[in-house]
Amino acid sequence: MSPDPTPWDCSIPDADLLRRFDIAGPRYTSYPTADRFRADSDGQRHGEVLALRAFGPAAQQPMSVYVHIPFCESVCYYCACNKVVTRHHERAAAYVDALEMEMGLVRRRLGARVLVSQLHFGGGTPTFLSDRELSLLMALLHRNFRLAADAEVSIEVDPRTIDVARLRHLRTLGFNRLSFGVQDFDPDVQRAVHREQSVESVAALIGASRDLGFRSVNVDLIYGLPMQTPASFARTVEQVAALRPDRIALYGYAHLPHRFKPQRRIEASALPPAADKLRMLSGAIAGFIARGYSYIGMDHFALADDPLAVAKREGRLHRNFQGYSTQPDCDLVALGVSAISKVGASFSQNVKTLPEYYAALREGRLPVERGLMLDQDDLVRRDAIMAIMCQGRLDFDPIERSHGIVATEYFARELERLRRMAADGLVTLEPRAVQVTPMGWFFVRAVAMVFDRYLQARAGQSDMPGAPSLTSTAAAMSTDGGEAPVRFSRIL
Ligand SMILES: C[S@@+](CC[C@H](N)C(=O)[O-])C[C@H]1O[C@@H](n2cnc3c(N)ncnc32)[C@H](O)[C@@H]1O
Ligand code: SF4
Repeated sequence: MSPDPTPWDCSIPDADLLRRFDIAGPRYTSYPTADRFRADSDGQRHGEVLALRAFGPAAQQPMSVYVHIPFCESVCYYCACNKVVTRHHERAAAYVDALEMEMGLVRRRLGARVLVSQLHFGGGTPTFLSDRELSLLMALLHRNFRLAADAEVSIEVDPRTIDVARLRHLRTLGFNRLSFGVQDFDPDVQRAVHREQSVESVAALIGASRDLGFRSVNVDLIYGLPMQTPASFARTVEQVAALRPDRIALYGYAHLPHRFKPQRRIEASALPPAADKLRMLSGAIAGFIARGYSYIGMDHFALADDPLAVAKREGRLHRNFQGYSTQPDCDLVALGVSAISKVGASFSQNVKTLPEYYAALREGRLPVERGLMLDQDDLVRRDAIMAIMCQGRLDFDPIERSHGIVATEYFARELERLRRMAADGLVTLEPRAVQVTPMGWFFVRAVAMVFDRYLQARAGQSDMPGAPSLTSTAAAMSTDGGEAPVRFSRIL
């Protein structure tokens, strides 16, 4: 694979390109995306897949574990995550008990304490759990899995739920990476989305994280929120960059009020117009690059010396359930409501409500409600999409060797569509490869979407990326269903 040719001082996209190609769509933390899952997968099938893994060569490979904690104390109006809003912290104890049962069922099928190289707590708000509950949960994970000494152990943190003492506790439990939800620092925006937190409090937490030895700090931002303006968001960009988080995730606000009830509290008239959203996005890209951040791809930035930025430069980027990563993709066991496991060529998603989750576990069943067994075409396209997303290049030789296809024939329609993107300077079409240009990296999602059979089918084989009217946009990001507008596809 050739190294990524993206120069770090490459020019940033103009408004016309952003309007045409910065389209909503899947984040491809998985392919096929979650909205293709079917109801014919259940706990039984998931159990069989896990048991099969125990007897194959994969048994020797490390895996990832994801734990979903759905509770939040208060609701942020923009939120599209799978969450349960409650002030009753006592509800957490029953949930930890249920996670213990689920872990037991998984462990029984895996047959051994499998080596884990990545562990992630997401939500909702994982820090809704008390320090004691987090300790108990960590002990249960250690009992059922073997955590590698150098494992990435990360947790999503709502800054309003934590102080330095709690951060210290997370560190003693072995967490070494933190992701803070910031979204926006402007007081008017914060009031409009019902999530108020000061720059000072976040600065103090990030400072303490460094002192405590956390390896990596990420900050989540959203552009397109109510009351945001290009000027106000430029201030947030400057304030965030001044805090020097190692990584920044910048998400476009996905407004789907028919699916996410809290979003109905957001007046459509308070949302910034499309032209302002574009100015926010291009301003943020320029602002972060000017302040020493590298653009990784798909809404992600990292400090130029961060391992992710180095991996990008050296063409060693991977993509897994957490988004871009320096670690190769591997099997993922996901625990908790709505969590999505990926084992071998299968996906399995857990039920989304607490009553269903508890009921399944009481009956001794893995709480899976839907999923997918990938077919041969899915596997070919998964490889193509991941090559585009990670290397910015699809070489035909390896994909032909792996799948016994003739790439120019198999992807004839895709290559035809890519010709239009080539005319806009986003890709170059070589005789035996597709190469994403430095400018194309800003639209790598749109390039990848060309290879997504399901999106293409839904769009009626009409104009794909570049056509803002793409009907599948909402569905592609959707919920029971769709892939997440954010990093993890459990959102929704
Ligand atoms: C699963 S949430 C959990 C983070 C944690 N509960 C917090 O609020 O700090 C992860 C991220 O999803 C993003 N997010 C949530 N709803 C979104 C939406 N409608 N559109 C875009 N991003 C969204 C936010 O940036 C948020 O930080
Ligand atoms: S953004 Fe985080 S804290 Fe707010 S409702 Fe969503 S999951 Fe809960």
